[in-house]
Amino acid sequence: MTDELVRIERDDPIAVVLLNRPKQLNALSDDVMEALVSALVELDRAGAVRCIVLGGSERVFAAGADIGMLAQTSPVEAATSARLARWESIRQIGKPIVAAVSGYCLGGGCELAMICDVIVASESARFGQPEINLGLIPGAGGTQRLTRAVGKAVAMDVILSGRFLSAREALDFGLVSRVVATEAWLEEAKRLARDIAKQSPVALRLAKEAVNRAYEGSLRLGVEYERQAFAIALSSEDAREGMSAFLEKRPPEFRGR
Ligand code: CAA
Repeated sequence: MTDELVRIERDDPIAVVLLNRPKQLNALSDDVMEALVSALVELDRAGAVRCIVLGGSERVFAAGADIGMLAQTSPVEAATSARLARWESIRQIGKPIVAAVSGYCLGGGCELAMICDVIVASESARFGQPEINLGLIPGAGGTQRLTRAVGKAVAMDVILSGRFLSAREALDFGLVSRVVATEAWLEEAKRLARDIAKQSPVALRLAKEAVNRAYEGSLRLGVEYERQAFAIALSSEDAREGMSAFLEKRPPEFRGR
């Protein structure tokens, strides 16, 4: 563990990455994003890690892009800078990422949670895309991902008014999959990550990509990708092991092959 902008805790087969810029409510400066991407890329390569938890603190997941930094950004920089590449790098992480969200999860913070694969929220979590209050709009996928997660009506309500969703609303609207007591914000995400980490790494990678195709692309392309991914999964040693273990009534031993 380090005292850097991003803390990494390895507890194989899971790893926990915590944003650590508390005085600025984990505002996502270039330095924070750089540290975050490098941590995630490293953990994605680490063979012993099978699932990653991404969180902030009990008070705040992240309050969005660093507004001071944003105020200095020209439109050309916004359209071409390394910032866009960093978001794409996070999207390309192959291992499942569970977002552990407690407190504020706003703007770029909400976009970061949504680019993860599952969101576990504490009762005190507040989700929002308040860029409209700054005369802006979400710039890291928020208009797309929030709309796909909660539907047009709620996304318009949230994005156009800048209001925050409570954890319960986020659960009802399908933005998060679980709501837990505030003090359990990290433990429950770790528990889910450990459950996920028991599964075949091959199947996890393929399933993640296939669900993302459903979410991001057209249905036709998504179903096509799913068919190919299913055939690859079926040909893995892990699938043979999984099916044999079921038939032999024993727990499977997945090796990622
Ligand atoms: N960027 C930079 N600094 C931020 C910040 C942000 N997004 N959010 C909070 N801070 C800083 C505050 O400036 C303050 O710093 P000082 O102590 O030096 O004054 C410190 O964090 C604590 O914040 P507050 O005093 O405001 O705390 P609060 O509890 O009263 O309010 C809050 C909390 C409601 C989250 C409020 O801080 C807030 O509204 N923050 C901005 C949220 C926002 O607009 N996010 C969207 C950013 S734009 C974006 O994300 C674009 C994109 O799509 C990529």
